[in-house]
Amino acid sequence: MDKKDIIILGIETSCDETSVAIVKNGREVLSNIINSQIDIHEKYGGVVPEIASRCHIEIINMIYKEALEKANISLDQIDAISCTYGPGLVGALLVGVSYAKALSYASNKKLVGVNHIEGHIAANYITNKDLKPPFICLIISGGHTHLVYVEDYTKFKIIGKTRDDAIGEAFDKVARVVGLGYPGGPKVDKLAKEGVANISLPKTHLDNLDFSFSGIKTAILNLYHKNPNVNKADLCMSFEKDCCDILIENVMKAVKMYNVDKIVLAGGVSANSYFRNEFLNLEKEKNIKIYYPELNLCTDNAAMIASAGYYNYINNKFSDLRLNAIPNLKIGESK
Ligand SMILES: Nc1ncnc2c1ncn2[C@@H]1O[C@H](COP(=O)(O)OP(=O)(O)OP(=O)(O)O)[C@@H](O)[C@H]1O
Ligand SMILES: [Mg+2]
Repeated sequence: MDKKDIIILGIETSCDETSVAIVKNGREVLSNIINSQIDIHEKYGGVVPEIASRCHIEIINMIYKEALEKANISLDQIDAISCTYGPGLVGALLVGVSYAKALSYASNKKLVGVNHIEGHIAANYITNKDLKPPFICLIISGGHTHLVYVEDYTKFKIIGKTRDDAIGEAFDKVARVVGLGYPGGPKVDKLAKEGVANISLPKTHLDNLDFSFSGIKTAILNLYHKNPNVNKADLCMSFEKDCCDILIENVMKAVKMYNVDKIVLAGGVSANSYFRNEFLNLEKEKNIKIYYPELNLCTDNAAMIASAGYYNYINNKFSDLRLNAIPNLKIGESK
């Protein structure tokens, strides 16, 4: 390890993944251990907050040890401890925040609080080594659909967001209604590949850069309830196509408004294969470059938190032991 290297330990517990990672200089992952609770929550059709917190408490110590072991590193060699402190489920967040504070206090290392959504954006720095701000980032996750102008590594401006459902939520709801189960995104993605976009759905176009997905979601639910024999694959493909058209329309407006040539996708839904292809096609048609994280960094993981933590660290954005969980933390408000 070079003396100048900065090593950050990241902790993520905002929802149903317990993850600890070690990342060098914000871009090189030395370890990224993720324990997903999906199997546990599957039978309830969604994440049960109380169960999520308990699972985090039971496993976090083991995940921490495994992360150090896999990176072949000791706590002494770490420069700072970073953790997600919002947005997310309060009980789940508190586990990671408390663990990070205890580690920071015991080892006398700097503490860096990270906004989970800024973490999703930072996942791109790990996959795309040449990526630098400014760019337009489309954050499409389970809880958010945000269009963000990323002016610099720690400077963000929300320029559009959903007025109702997050897109991941809409994917999960559609999957549940047509009987695909939870989590729905990957299942809709898979089934849509067998279908064609031949079902017309109402697309909501807003004057500004905001989004709305509740109309399209409700139309699917009504359509399915009226006609349960509808071809599910066609329904999934039509849903994906219309959502993607809405996203691309606003992203292209933002690209013009902010005069940038880079579009970055982030969050769990950026794993969607149809979306990834459609955005890549833009690269060929227009003079812009498209970036997205590798698949295992799209959904929640601690490597992205360590990467965002690194950029906070080098910009002297530290937290102290008063750091608390903030369930509705907004992007750009990181400590
Ligand atoms: N291939 C896919 N296609 C579409 N959606 C997907 C795919 N893979 C995962 N998703 C969706 O991504 C979401 C999970 O993403 P993520 O982990 O970023 O969300 P979250 O952490 O729950 O929410 P947030 O990050 O907003 O707090 C789920 O809604 C899931 O259905
Ligand atoms: Mg997330």
